[in-house]
Amino acid sequence: MKIEEEIAKLKKERGATILAHNYQRGEVQDAADFTGDSLELARKAASVDADVIVFCGVYFMAETAAILNPSKTVLIPDPDAGCPMADMVNAKDLRELKAKHPGAVVVSYVNSTAEVKAECDICVTSGNAERVMASIPGDREVIFVPDRHLGSHVSGLLGRKYILWPGYCPTHARITVPRIELARRAHPGAPVLVHPECAEDVRAAADERLSTGGMCAYARESNAEEIIVGTETGILHRLMQENPGKKFWPVDENAICPNMKKTTLESLRDSLRDMKTRVVVEEGVANRARRAIEAMLGVA
Ligand code: 13P
Ligand code: SF4
Repeated sequence: MKIEEEIAKLKKERGATILAHNYQRGEVQDAADFTGDSLELARKAASVDADVIVFCGVYFMAETAAILNPSKTVLIPDPDAGCPMADMVNAKDLRELKAKHPGAVVVSYVNSTAEVKAECDICVTSGNAERVMASIPGDREVIFVPDRHLGSHVSGLLGRKYILWPGYCPTHARITVPRIELARRAHPGAPVLVHPECAEDVRAAADERLSTGGMCAYARESNAEEIIVGTETGILHRLMQENPGKKFWPVDENAICPNMKKTTLESLRDSLRDMKTRVVVEEGVANRARRAIEAMLGVA
């Protein structure tokens, strides 16, 4: 039996739904029931009927699904698939910063651990950060963790100053202005889309700053026949599949998140077969983190 057939059979036996992030390997995306960006996946995880959710992504995403579904079994095929940006802030250090700014609203990018979310008032994703942050009263101080680039992006959009944690994504740090210039010369006229996790000069050099879901929507709606894409290269699979008549060029073909690539068809199959690895979040932490995630889903 082919591994794809094994996965489909096990999935049925387990009553499972497979969710995959846009950065997953192409073959893993193809095996999933739903592929999307962090916001779409959080929404899906909150509404899914299945008893078992297999989350093909990085750990904080599976944790978010587990927090939103305490009665369901959430599995991650490779529990070592972490996010270095999420690990750049911990709950203790955040508590110390909060103590210095007692009145501040604390906002966390979903790329954070459950313990950090538990310290926050509201979460954001790259797909809804502007709308969520716009809902915070203008006279309040705001702490934003952990991505200084997404934080400064929204700060520029809304004309507000935030206290930014100095975290960043090492994969998006590979995307640079000289690389964009090279891509523009190679594909004249093609619009350049970058993720808001990119640095300020990179965001300024691009035509659009979009979440991965936003990039998929842009590609669908745009008349451009060629598009330059500045984010993790896993998204190219979906862009090419959904837009067969268009061409997509990565700003940097080495912008690969090693953690997103840890999940393989084999580990997905094993996960369903052996019901591993279950993601469990301590109840007290989960309850506090859920408030921040649900506050976000209530706004956008
Ligand atoms: P989005 O898919 O929500 O744009 O997030 C990108 C990301 O880096 C997730 O780890
Ligand atoms: Fe984390 Fe960056 Fe990988 Fe996203 S692409 S999971 S932010 S390291």
